[in-house]
Amino acid sequence: MGARPLLNRRLDGLGTTIFAEMSALATATGSINLGQGFPDTDGPAEIARAAADAVLSGRGNQYPPGPGIPELRTAIAEHQQRFYGLGYDPDTEVLVTAGATEAIAAALLALLEPGDEVIAFEPFYDSYAACIAMAGAVRVPLTLRTPDFRPDLDELRSLVTPRTRLLLLNTPHNPTGTVLTPAELTAVAALAVEHDLLVVTDEVYEHLVFSGAHYPIAALPGMRERTVSISSAGKTFSFTGWKVGWVTASAPLVAAVRTAKQYLTYVSAGPFQYAVADALRLPDEYFGGLRTDLRRKRDLLADGLTAAGFEVFQPQGTYFVTTDITPLGEKDGLEFCRSLPGRCGVVAIPNVVFYDNTEAGRSLVRFTFCKQDEVLLEAVRRLQRL
Ligand SMILES: Cc1ncc(COP(=O)(O)O)c(C=O)c1O
Repeated sequence: MGARPLLNRRLDGLGTTIFAEMSALATATGSINLGQGFPDTDGPAEIARAAADAVLSGRGNQYPPGPGIPELRTAIAEHQQRFYGLGYDPDTEVLVTAGATEAIAAALLALLEPGDEVIAFEPFYDSYAACIAMAGAVRVPLTLRTPDFRPDLDELRSLVTPRTRLLLLNTPHNPTGTVLTPAELTAVAALAVEHDLLVVTDEVYEHLVFSGAHYPIAALPGMRERTVSISSAGKTFSFTGWKVGWVTASAPLVAAVRTAKQYLTYVSAGPFQYAVADALRLPDEYFGGLRTDLRRKRDLLADGLTAAGFEVFQPQGTYFVTTDITPLGEKDGLEFCRSLPGRCGVVAIPNVVFYDNTEAGRSLVRFTFCKQDEVLLEAVRRLQRL
């Protein structure tokens, strides 16, 4: 081949995701993997059984409808009504996707032109940078800073230019655990309305909130017609391998996102769609139980990390806790995470990979607590060796 690099230059520098690198390291070293955010126990047995039943009874084994099966679209619309009082038409305002990941990709590819600017809170989930790049758009980070990781709303305002097309939100926020307050969301919404911006909001951790509550920005005045809300079944129901996600938005926005989506996967996860429809209708006790369980795990890991000498930033939501390694005499999170399996048999994620402004994240390290108590206790015991 000639001198031209094989990888499209838009993807230059995106390399292998940190999750692949760190999960491979965990396997190679037999370490406890507190890196990638997937639970080590499956979701409700009756939901797993619903998926198996769907396969065995031939529901969804062939291409399901492009927008998703009607049963699931209806259940998604009911969920938005039940938890947030948001009304969506299952036929025109709901789209089923291959996880939130595809929803993010389809939304950004559909809504952005090359050169458009996208403001996103950094540290950002790694697929945002890749999808903005694939769309030929430009990411403009608003840095969430220690110790509280709140967005500076004046700074946000100052980042808006005539080229700004879209605000990309994530609440509850991975990796910081920040849950945007009604006041913050109101300020973001006012800015969006004033500058006629679109909002894409990734709410996959909507049910994992430990202090306060989750508020969808789509519910604020003037936002329904300009907001693409994204969520998925992975985190809420502990079936991250099923990859069933969804978009709720006005009909014109859903039509735009669907146009991109149909050429990405066309459809996915037929039988799982039936099971997720059941899952979304689980009683309140399920959602409350998930939260209580994860709050206990958060406290268990956060206390253990504090005892091991980390500075711990208590997350309000998600199943991640961000720490600073400076009190351990360490400076570089990437180096620290690469050496951690050898030093004490634990894998974590260096937050710096989620930043453009790398100085702001250099000494920060993320651990997940969606693991069984005994796994967390063993990880904490090992980390005391530091
Ligand atoms: C913020 C955020 N968005 C999206 C996803 C991916 O969701 P899904 O597995 O439904 O594609 C994740 C997974 O870790 C995430 O943390």
